[in-house]
Amino acid sequence: MAKASEVGNGGQSGIGEPYYCQECKRNHTKGKIYKEHLNFAKFESKKEEIIEDESESTDLTLEDSDTLEEEIEVDTYSEMEEEEFHNEIEEDEDFDEEILALDNDNSDYVDAVKKLPGVGEATLKKLIKAGFGSLESIAYTPPSIIQEESGLGDKTTAKLIKASMEKLNIGFKSAEDVWEHRRNIARITTGSQELDNLFGGGIETGCVIEFFGEFRTGKTQLAHMLCVNVQLPKEDGGLSGNALYIDTEGTFRPERIIQMAEGLDLDHKKVLKNIVFGRAYNSDHQVLLIKEATNLIREKNIKLIIVDSLIGHFRSEYVGRGTLANRQQTINSHLHDLLRLTDIFPDLCVMVTNQVQSKPDVFYGNPTVAAGGNIVAHGSTIRVYLRKGKGEQRVAKMIDAPHLPEGEAIFSITENGIVD
Ligand code: GTP
Ligand code: MG
Repeated sequence: MAKASEVGNGGQSGIGEPYYCQECKRNHTKGKIYKEHLNFAKFESKKEEIIEDESESTDLTLEDSDTLEEEIEVDTYSEMEEEEFHNEIEEDEDFDEEILALDNDNSDYVDAVKKLPGVGEATLKKLIKAGFGSLESIAYTPPSIIQEESGLGDKTTAKLIKASMEKLNIGFKSAEDVWEHRRNIARITTGSQELDNLFGGGIETGCVIEFFGEFRTGKTQLAHMLCVNVQLPKEDGGLSGNALYIDTEGTFRPERIIQMAEGLDLDHKKVLKNIVFGRAYNSDHQVLLIKEATNLIREKNIKLIIVDSLIGHFRSEYVGRGTLANRQQTINSHLHDLLRLTDIFPDLCVMVTNQVQSKPDVFYGNPTVAAGGNIVAHGSTIRVYLRKGKGEQRVAKMIDAPHLPEGEAIFSITENGIVD
């Protein structure tokens, strides 16, 4: 790479020695990266121009990509970043390594973001660090969240979202196109034919599926089974993908995974390796783990996310009527984070488990309802109620699905997992 010493000083001094740079009228050290120097010079000159032109503000369109490119760069430079330009080479190398590490697994996606008008190194770094390393993740996320998590300005964020949407051609499409997509939707087998039939052929991807029920009804067992089954090849009912398991209750048991894998004649060591496990110690931590999942999903080929359970922490942390509104708001935004992941990654399945609560005003019929109220009910795409049957048997009841009839299926929990 060209060095700062190659501009402005005529190459007179030795490596490491200071010299006065004619380009940006500052002292530099010979041997610094030229790219860094150029960026600085560009920033300085642009800042001066802006100060001069302050009175004449012009509305930029996306077509003016050259102008826009520079505008966004200026938008995003804070005083802190200005300082960053003066950092030592080592730091810049760290950054390059960081980006390169991500590039290995996400290269095409990161490349597309890099090509958005106005995305320079500083902006790219912020986007990737905040988990916005693809056009999809930028296009589908509300601007306020991108701003909050990446630290970018509102103008920059709005322009990035608009440009990503245009690149992805997000707009209206025909119902036929939607049908074409749904017809080919990928599914994961539960291990039980009857339970698969309840879902129209297995648990579908691209949505959030909630299993709720009393203790011992098999929610955690089902979650374990899906982590194994997702790894199967397509012809055996899997997605040839890996699982991300967020455990909020401390009930994840690798020994059950081993039993289930052996029941399917799979190498249990490989199966365990393909499950990324995260123990959430409180509700904030749980929310954070999901926010950090975006980069991991592509990097680790995650096709299934489990959150077991969705609201356990929230229920124990937000106590008293006064905290209810706050709790519901946080659960709502957490559920939307999960839903957004299925928009960004259409072949991802999100399975959450939920606890139940008793309705004191129900005298006839089942007084048991899912916890979390309307927020969880609206947030999950498909809701299934689990209850205990005789011995190993469990009954699953389809409570709510946009396209499936209400119905029931009986399955069993055995040593080798879920079976008919
Ligand atoms: P909570 O998390 O307490 O709300 O319950 P849950 O619905 O998650 O229950 P879970 O899925 O953990 O189910 C536990 C039940 O699964 C046990 O009570 C057993 O009935 C059954 N189970 C667990 N392991 C085995 C096993 O190795 N063999 C058999 N036959 N059953 C098992
Ligand atoms: Mg459980």
